[in-house]
Amino acid sequence: MAVISRRTTIGFGLSVAALGAIGFGVWPRMDSYREEVERQRQLLSSDAGLRDLVRMATLAANGHNTQPWTFSLADQRVTILPDFSRRTAVVDPDDHHLYVSLGCAAENLIIAAAAQGQAAEAVLEPTAEPQIDIALSAAEPVQSELYQAIPLRQSTRSVYDGQPISGADMALLEAAARDDGVSVLFFTAAEARDAILDFVIQGNSTQMDDPAFVQELRDWLRFSPARALTTGDGLFSACSGNPVLPDWIGGQMFRLFFTKESENDKYRDQIRSSAGIAVFAGDRPDPEHWIKVGRSFQRFALRATALGIRNAHLNQPVEVATVRPEFARWLGMPDARPDLVVRFGRAPALPMSLRRPVSEVLA
Ligand SMILES: Cc1cc2nc3c(=O)[nH]c(=O)nc-3n(C[C@H](O)[C@H](O)[C@H](O)COP(=O)(O)O)c2cc1C
Repeated sequence: MAVISRRTTIGFGLSVAALGAIGFGVWPRMDSYREEVERQRQLLSSDAGLRDLVRMATLAANGHNTQPWTFSLADQRVTILPDFSRRTAVVDPDDHHLYVSLGCAAENLIIAAAAQGQAAEAVLEPTAEPQIDIALSAAEPVQSELYQAIPLRQSTRSVYDGQPISGADMALLEAAARDDGVSVLFFTAAEARDAILDFVIQGNSTQMDDPAFVQELRDWLRFSPARALTTGDGLFSACSGNPVLPDWIGGQMFRLFFTKESENDKYRDQIRSSAGIAVFAGDRPDPEHWIKVGRSFQRFALRATALGIRNAHLNQPVEVATVRPEFARWLGMPDARPDLVVRFGRAPALPMSLRRPVSEVLA
């Protein structure tokens, strides 16, 4: 067996870090990556049609950026269907986050349609595989700040500036997230954030000890812009503030440096630098309420973006079945199933993630 000394490891790590550091600026295909991001994130033109609304929908947050959706178009109607070939069976065995992601996409579509002068009414079709049916009708255009924020919203997985958010901005975040059938709890006190950190570390430690979880995550990582551009999906390193690398080196580095301890340390720094944490819980654990949670979260994230506030998920306490009940008890809602845990605060933007072309997500 090859033995890698600590010195070799550190040397290798530093060279790769240096490579990654220069990489983001000059890496082959980084320009193409940026151009594609810019192309995908244009606001709607005056003659935009249903396919353009679908593009806006796909810019929504979604678990592991698998984009687990397809869109069926008809006259004045868009249906969003689950794409179970893109489910993440290990981290999301009952497709609960898959349906939350569909809710996020629906909210983007509805807000973009309003800007385009189309009122949207969404209903859940209670078929064996529930789908969201959105009927559109002519209305006065509503050019909201949430609409302007659609292409700018991102999951920002970096250390934040440690500063609190003003009461006025907190009130706007709460108002954006508010919805029937969804509870959103906000935690800003240091003790509460530390208590949630303990749940995150418990959940993360369990996940990191599970080879199936690590493999599933690895399958959705994209280390180079070329690979990210080829697939149009997944978690591109630069979007998480990590070095850009050739894919074969990225895979090696992931195996060497993605450890329980390093991940737990990262979450400690990230949570302690955040202004607060929001926890979203649907009234019932079913697709209807998971979609409602997605819509509520997406509005929260868009409002935050409009206010210059970033957010990122810390879902380990709700993903790990052995941690979730204790977390629900701590929240004071022992019978609920909490759905999302999201930190927020201020920080510079990271590079934006890519989406697959609209042609690939049409049913
Ligand atoms: C239901 C759901 C679950 C998510 N879970 C996590 C998570 O556990 N960790 C994380 O870093 N991001 C998580 N995210 C964020 C996604 O990874 C992110 O939305 C996706 O990669 C697209 O990137 P963007 O949000 O920057 O557009 C989640 C998002 C959704 C909607």
